[in-house]
This record gives sequence, C-alpha cells and structure tokens, in this order.
Amino acid sequence: MERSQWGTRAGFVMAAVGSAVGLGNIWRFPYVAYENGGGAFFIPYLFALLTAGIPILIMEFTIGHKFRGSAPLSFFRMSGKKLEWMGWWAIFVSFVISTYYAVIIAWSMRYTIFSFNQAWGSDTEAFLFNDFLQLTVTPGQTGGLVWGVLIPLALVWIITLGILFAGVKKGIELANRIFIPTLVVIFLVVVIRAVTLDGASLGLDAFFKPNFDAILNPQVWVAAYGHIFFSLSVAFAIMITYASYLPKKSDITNNAFITGFANSAFELLAGIGVFAALGFMANQQGVAVADVAAAGVGLAFVVFPQIINEFPGFNGLFGALFFLSLTLAGLTSLISITETYVAGFSEKFGISRNKAVALGGGLAAIISILFATQGGLFFLDVADYFINQFGVAAIGLVEVVLIVWVFRKADMLKGHADAISDIRLGGWWKICLGIVTPIVLGYMMFGLFKTNLLKEFDTETGNYEGYSDTFIMLGGTAVALGAILLGILLSVGKWHKDHAQFEEDK
Ligand code: ALA
Repeated sequence: MERSQWGTRAGFVMAAVGSAVGLGNIWRFPYVAYENGGGAFFIPYLFALLTAGIPILIMEFTIGHKFRGSAPLSFFRMSGKKLEWMGWWAIFVSFVISTYYAVIIAWSMRYTIFSFNQAWGSDTEAFLFNDFLQLTVTPGQTGGLVWGVLIPLALVWIITLGILFAGVKKGIELANRIFIPTLVVIFLVVVIRAVTLDGASLGLDAFFKPNFDAILNPQVWVAAYGHIFFSLSVAFAIMITYASYLPKKSDITNNAFITGFANSAFELLAGIGVFAALGFMANQQGVAVADVAAAGVGLAFVVFPQIINEFPGFNGLFGALFFLSLTLAGLTSLISITETYVAGFSEKFGISRNKAVALGGGLAAIISILFATQGGLFFLDVADYFINQFGVAAIGLVEVVLIVWVFRKADMLKGHADAISDIRLGGWWKICLGIVTPIVLGYMMFGLFKTNLLKEFDTETGNYEGYSDTFIMLGGTAVALGAILLGILLSVGKWHKDHAQFEEDK
C-alpha cells in the first residue's frame, strides 16, 4: 500500500509547528523562564535550542524521511533491527503523555466556557480544586468520576481521533491548516491586549530582568534542556513519524529551522503576554509580580481567572480567547502525540490505520479516565513527573549516543539531509549531537538523580506524604526498565511491513 503523504510543504511545516506549539509553550515556558533567571535564561535556552533541539530535530526529520516509517520501523531499518526497541520506548512515553495531556485540554475547554460569565467566582483557587476538580480524596485514591472533566475529555478524544481517522492529508494536515493560523490570530489578540494593560511593563520587567547568577547554576541548564525537548516535541517519536509522510523531494534542514524558530517565537510571545497580564494584576493589587506568579496548573487555572476577574472591559471575551488558545495549541500537539502509536501499531501488526486509531486511541482514551476522577490531579502530577524525569530527556540522550557513537550513522544521515535540503549541514551538527548534547544531557541525568530524586517529592500541588525517596527511585527505575523491556518484547515480533516492502517503496 502507498504510504500516506502530506499534500504540501506548508502542510507539513504547519503540522510540525502544531506539534511543537502546545501546552508547554503557553503555560510552562513563561514560568520556567521567569524562575530560571528571567532574561538571563535566554542564554541557556538558546544554547539548548541550537545545540540540542534543532540538531536533534534535523536528525529525526532525516531518519523519518529516509526510512519512511514510524519511529520503531525507522530505527529498525536504520540499524538492521537492533534499535527498534528505542522507537517503542519513545512511543510508550508518547502514549502515557497523551493520556494526561488530553485531560489538560479538557480543562481548558471547560474554562473557555467558564470565562464568559467568570463562573469561577472570586476564589479561583477554591473553585479549581474543590468545585471543578473535586479534589477531596487523599493522593493515590481515585474517588468518583468528575463529570465536568469527563464530558469535555470525551470531546477532546472524539475530535482528536476523528481527525486521525480522516488520515494524514485530509485529517492531520487539514486540521493544522485551520487550527494553527486561527491560534496565531487569537493569541496575537490576547498578547496585544495584555501588553496594553496598565502595569504590563511591571510584568515584562520581571520577566526580562536578567539574573546572571542563575546562568552558573546547573539546574538552570537542566531546565533549559528539559524544556526544549518537551517544547519541540523531540525524542517523542513524533517528528520521525511526521517526516516519514514527506514526499521524496523535500527539504529537511530548512524545515527544521523554520519549525524550531516558529516554536520559540510563539513561546516568547506567550511569555510576553502572560507576564504583561501578571504585571497588570500585581499593579491592581499593589503587590510584586513575584507574589502573583505561579507555576503550571496554578498559572493557567488559578491566576489567569483572577486576572480575567479584574480585567477592564470585555473580560469574558479575553478569557475565552486565552483558554481557546490553550485548547487549540493542545489539540494540535495531542494529534501528533497520538499519531506516533497509531503509525507504530498499524505497521507492526499490519492492521489498518482506522483500526490502529480505534485500538490505540481508544485505549489511551480509556486510561485517561483515571485523570478525570476526583484524585485525577494527583495521578496526573505523578505521571507528568515520572515522564519528564525518566522519559523524554533520557530517550534524547540514549538516541544521540547510540546513533552517533555506537551505530555511527551521523555521516550517513548528514549525507541524506544535505542531498535534499537548501541548507547544507556543517561540522557543527555532528559536534552538537555527538559531543555537546551527550555531555550536557549526561550531566543532567546524573545531576537530576542526585538532587531531585533524593529529596522530597516536590510537585505542583505540593509534597505528598507517603511517597518515600525509595518509592520514587524504585518506581521511576521500574517504569523506565519496564518501558525498555516492552520495547524489546515488541521488537521480537516480525514487522508486517518489512524490509522487502521498504525496498519496493524506495
Ligand atoms: N511540544 C508540545 C508542547 O509544548 C508537547 O506542549
């Protein structure tokens, strides 16, 4: 069977940008930057983008384009089957992420509606935790189902899987061609309105004021790398899968730069918009910006509703546009995350695309119900924490070390990218992949193990008593080993679509 293809270059770039621009850009980046040195954070951020983010993106685009398969199939073909497990590992991580990512989009959808009449009232924190999420159980318990989350969650999955059923060109490409320009316009309106609020400059000062001491702190570099991986969707199996749908004559390197810079531009815009709004609120309340800034869940679903409450004129509309941006950005990323296992399952087991969407997507949707229970947020925090510590960055590290050093594929990949791209890759590309990234990521893994895992289990909603250090370490190691084992087990089975087919495809 013919492999699905993107209709146009712009369609592919839009889909790759849609994958990259997500919840991470809007709610995660502003706070990560602020907490890690403000203006000075841009130094490690740009370093991570240019030495790891974009080089790995180029590598993943090249692998997908050359080997024309989902991540496990591409790795299988590249390494004579030895690296297939690594593709499954990345798919496992994407699968887990999709189960809770969908839930956050569901909250955003609900909050888009709440915005119109500020249904959250004046105590936005109590509203989020008590009324909306009904988080009244102890960590580890599920409690009952929360219908206010479950119904929008069902809608999120219906939209996502509906788009995936429609295929690569008529589904994913078309959805991104509609969602991404809409997102850009809506988000620009939000940001322009935010920077023209009274007190906006206070927030921007706080955001951009460089704290140069921070650059000397290794944790800040860790934060920059971790963020770039999540934000650019690299080491998730996504970009390999998306590039596998490119026609033979396609640009690789230039498209990777466009995707990387578009993602960062959006992120910067989000930082400006969010901090301008925080400045406004600090000004209104006569307090410092530091007193109103919050991380993750708190920023989007507690602080933003407060800002909307105090907003001068058309506040319902401003709020709805903000949460709609979050919803759209999240959906285009969720589509790409889910596509990784749809492609992997359908190729490995020889089932149709539709069956793979129904089985893979359906399973993820069922598991995601766990996060729509009363204890859902606790489970979500744990899943997110483990995945970020043991998932994405670890795969990035293993991927570059194995590909560049063990299997020595860098020159072959460079040759392939250079033969079809506008921009030729210089020696810098291999140095970044083979030397700079492994050193920084290796240090990062080691450093994280020593500092983060040995201290209390800090999460967004606080320290959970009952999770001991041993539990965290054993749990994390077990999850990572389990994922690798699963990958190895899956690799034992034959590919439905195998080498012979690939030779024919060529
Ligand atoms: N790249 C996606 C995000 O930033 C996953 O949320």
